[in-house]
Amino acid sequence: MAETARISVKDVCVGYGGKPVQSGIDLEIARGEIFAIVGDSGSGKSTLLKSMVGLLPPLKGSILFDGKPLEGEAEPGVEKGPPPFGILFQGGALWSSMTLLENILMPMEMHGHAEPAAREALARFKLALVGLAGHEERLPASLSGGMRKRAALARALALDPSVLFLDEPSAGLDPLSSRRLDELILTLRDGLGITVVMVTHELESLYAIADRMLFLDGEEHKPTALGPPAELAREADSGKVREFLSRRGLSDQPHASQTEASS
Ligand SMILES: Nc1ncnc2c1ncn2[C@@H]1O[C@H](COP(=O)(O)OP(=O)(O)OP(=O)(O)O)[C@@H](O)[C@H]1O
Ligand SMILES: [Mg+2]
Repeated sequence: MAETARISVKDVCVGYGGKPVQSGIDLEIARGEIFAIVGDSGSGKSTLLKSMVGLLPPLKGSILFDGKPLEGEAEPGVEKGPPPFGILFQGGALWSSMTLLENILMPMEMHGHAEPAAREALARFKLALVGLAGHEERLPASLSGGMRKRAALARALALDPSVLFLDEPSAGLDPLSSRRLDELILTLRDGLGITVVMVTHELESLYAIADRMLFLDGEEHKPTALGPPAELAREADSGKVREFLSRRGLSDQPHASQTEASS
């Protein structure tokens, strides 16, 4: 990559209490890329995400943003700004006693983001961006699952991040809401140039929006594929990865069983 990678993960091992969950993770994510992390349940996708955002220091290796470690950003005597990313945690909930607008305003107030007088207008803009204009005063409990996810995405956008980390954003959504969320993620990338790192189980999403993906193998405890999903579906060394990526092929051929039955 000619340009400095937005995110560099160099020979990283992640895990808890000195016990590795995944090892040998080496990758670079370009500015404006939509990068997916996929793999078996329990393989360490959320763990890797936690390490990338600095909540769980890697057991080994380094994770750099624009070539610099996160903790290296602050200079002596200069107040450290908020991290350059927004996060949507797996099962991440909104603050239930606050309206949607208050949910977006809270991180802005906590981090002293933007001029106080401009905050409300900015928060309203974030909600409009995810299609929730007119719902500012509603409480999370009164929303559909898809709306709640979009509100959580608006909150992740509160501090104008240049990188978004999303852990299974479409989990639990119906296919239509899920496609809508995919389109929204594409819009954020195309319109605002945001880099997206997304954990997903959804093949539809993967093929529709991911530029590249990393497959974490839960049995081998290391990544076994890295590349564009369509390419890996054909050419991945790992049979498990090819099989994982071809599930869509099966469900997309509704006539296969009829053909078989009639032959
Ligand atoms: N806080 C923790 N302390 C110790 N071990 C943990 C902790 N969180 C997760 N683990 C373990 O680390 C491994 C990876 O978990 P992780 O949540 O990263 O998997 P995942 O790939 O995100 O799974 P899923 O697809 O179910 O979300 C699992 O064996 C899990 O039990
Ligand atoms: Mg997870």
